[in-house]
Amino acid sequence: MKIAVLPGDGIGPEIMTQAIRVLDVLRAEGLDMEFVEAPLGGAGYDAYGHPYPEFTQKICREADAVLLGAVGGPQYDTLDRPLRPERGLLAIRKDLGLFANLRPAVLFPELANASTLKPEVVAGLDIMIVRELTGDVYFGQPRGMRVNENGEREGFNTMVYTEAEVRRIAHVAFGIAMKRQKKLCSVDKANVLETTEFWKEIVIDVAKEYPEVELSHMYVDNAAMQLIRNPKQFDVMVTGNIFGDILSDEASMLTGSIGMLASASLNESKKGLYEPSHGSAPDIAGKNLANPLATILSAAMMMRYTFNNEAAAVRIENAVKKVLAAGYRTGDIFEPGMTRVSCSEMGDQVVAAM
Ligand code: NAD
Ligand code: IPM
Ligand code: MN
Repeated sequence: MKIAVLPGDGIGPEIMTQAIRVLDVLRAEGLDMEFVEAPLGGAGYDAYGHPYPEFTQKICREADAVLLGAVGGPQYDTLDRPLRPERGLLAIRKDLGLFANLRPAVLFPELANASTLKPEVVAGLDIMIVRELTGDVYFGQPRGMRVNENGEREGFNTMVYTEAEVRRIAHVAFGIAMKRQKKLCSVDKANVLETTEFWKEIVIDVAKEYPEVELSHMYVDNAAMQLIRNPKQFDVMVTGNIFGDILSDEASMLTGSIGMLASASLNESKKGLYEPSHGSAPDIAGKNLANPLATILSAAMMMRYTFNNEAAAVRIENAVKKVLAAGYRTGDIFEPGMTRVSCSEMGDQVVAAM
């Protein structure tokens, strides 16, 4: 198994080090894994003058899977937009065709008190957010800034989805729902936006192939509210790129912290990029404070989805569970009575639990 390792920026290298240590336990036991490191984002710009350098592109194209930390940082925010770290992330998603972003919001029972919501609201939470990742207003053309006919400056983006794009993500979402509670909620803004009215129409059509799945529809503003009011009404949610970005950050707080939310981004051949849903956290970077669990859990998703190694995935997830049950907490999930640990100490504990 050839794995491209892209630590990225900010806390990226810190959390990646811990995820690799956890994978190294499996490697030491004989699992055949080769890690090849490459820069992405600001690190790519610093090394090669581009956020997705050709060097990195080649390594990622040849790899079976990609493991990513996070990209971005204030020092890059004034670069020309095509050179910014975030563009590197969008470029790799597009380059590898990673259209299906799975973000599981699962509450470890040990963290019921870490959520800002009441424990009884989040206890037992297990939602899978399926976010379309290579379309929508993120990629639509035209885009940019210009002076309009009245001489005013304006910014503009284009929200667009093709039928094929909606069909393939809908199939992924229905497929996942079939293996879970068979409930799928499609999130749109069909009351205002034609693109998402079209989305809804296509999802309804695809549903005919999955008669066992109970399909519902919700406007995105209501969905944002329902996630806080009664999140356990959801099993699988499917939505476009921008709504999925926002709703998944919101859902992360149901699990205690954004530092717990793993993700997998898959293409047609299940080649995957695995990364935590959070960013490079410049406010805590370099301080050994970050929670590495979302990255470690992303490595577990890599075992499950790209390498079909369910046993290895469960092994990593159970190690995380054990560490939480033993009371170890990074700052973002800390509560009185627990043992506060650093990023690397959290890694030590997961490795020991493995
Ligand atoms: P962020 O997710 O980096 O941080 C938001 C807040 O959550 C911060 O207070 C941060 O300290 C905290 N946080 C995030 N991850 C944590 C972890 N593992 N452990 C403990 N606390 C954690 O979002 P932001 O501040 O909006 O963005 C910072 C930079 O990251 C920007 O440049 C942005 O573009 C980039 N970004 C990258 C990705 C990615 O690489 N996938 C995702 C989101 C944002
Ligand atoms: C994420 C991030 C990215 C996104 C940014 C950094 C391009 O917020 O992975 O959720 O919006 O997709
Ligand atoms: Mn995001």
